[in-house]
Amino acid sequence: MGQKVTKAVFPVAGMGTRFLPATKSVPKEIMTLVDRPLIQYAIDEARAAGITEFIFVTSRGKGALEDYFDHAPQLEQELKNKNKTKLLEVLESTNMDSGAIAYIRQHKALGLGHAVWCARRLIGDEPFAVILPDDVIAAEKPCLQQMIEAYAETGGNMVAAMEVAPERTSSYGVLDIADDMGEMVKVRGMVEKPKAEDAPSNLAVIGRYILSPSVLQNLNNIKSGSGGEIQLTDAIARDIELSNNVYGYRFKGQRFDCGSKSGFLQATVAFGLAREELRDDLKGYLEDIMQAGI
Ligand code: UTP
Repeated sequence: MGQKVTKAVFPVAGMGTRFLPATKSVPKEIMTLVDRPLIQYAIDEARAAGITEFIFVTSRGKGALEDYFDHAPQLEQELKNKNKTKLLEVLESTNMDSGAIAYIRQHKALGLGHAVWCARRLIGDEPFAVILPDDVIAAEKPCLQQMIEAYAETGGNMVAAMEVAPERTSSYGVLDIADDMGEMVKVRGMVEKPKAEDAPSNLAVIGRYILSPSVLQNLNNIKSGSGGEIQLTDAIARDIELSNNVYGYRFKGQRFDCGSKSGFLQATVAFGLAREELRDDLKGYLEDIMQAGI
């Protein structure tokens, strides 16, 4: 029922103030979990889901992000000369096809909804995915792939959803649930950053979306909402008023909020422990400091 999704938007124009002073010169998306920048995790997830066109919404100071996706022929040659085949493979796996990436500027950080709207001409009249690279998801089957498979059955709009503690609803867009089908919920409405007492549920939206082009139309008329920003949530909620379906998808996996310091550190530990060559060392260190009661 859902059309094939081949385009993904990566809104990366935010200022990343929670990571100042690092983000004075390093884009948040270039910050590294173990040995890969956040953006690489997002790209790999998109590729696994069958995405072939990658649209970055960037801003001033994000040059390092564009450079990261350039091929590095000199470095590749050097590794070849030295027979460092493993490293060469790692490097080559990050190469993108020519013309697969497009960059568009958001001239002012007016919010996530506005950032997505900036990509409207590149998206055109087809469904598209949105990936927020600071939400990193460890999953056996990559989260967007899970969603695209579910979306093939439902069509409409789909947002990744996860249960949060009631006192945390004020950090998320929260779903008002019309029908709970288990893995999937049909959504009646969405509220951006409600206080616990005003939240319609504790099912929160995180940074993966599959959206129909009508959401871009809605964004034409959305005024700034919560926090003075143009909210993507409001444009998706508007689609429900227009009688289009919105589904929340309870993905399988663990999400790390790498836009926050604590989430980033947790992800570093989790991804470090998941790496065979690092596990024993890191585990030993963690056990030692726990024992020492630090
Ligand atoms: P955040 O709310 O995490 O904002 O944005 P931020 O600026 O990146 O970080 P802090 O809060 O100042 O530390 C969520 C996602 O939306 C993008 C960000 O780049 C991030 O991927 N975004 C946000 C934009 O592209 N444009 C905006 O105007 C706002």
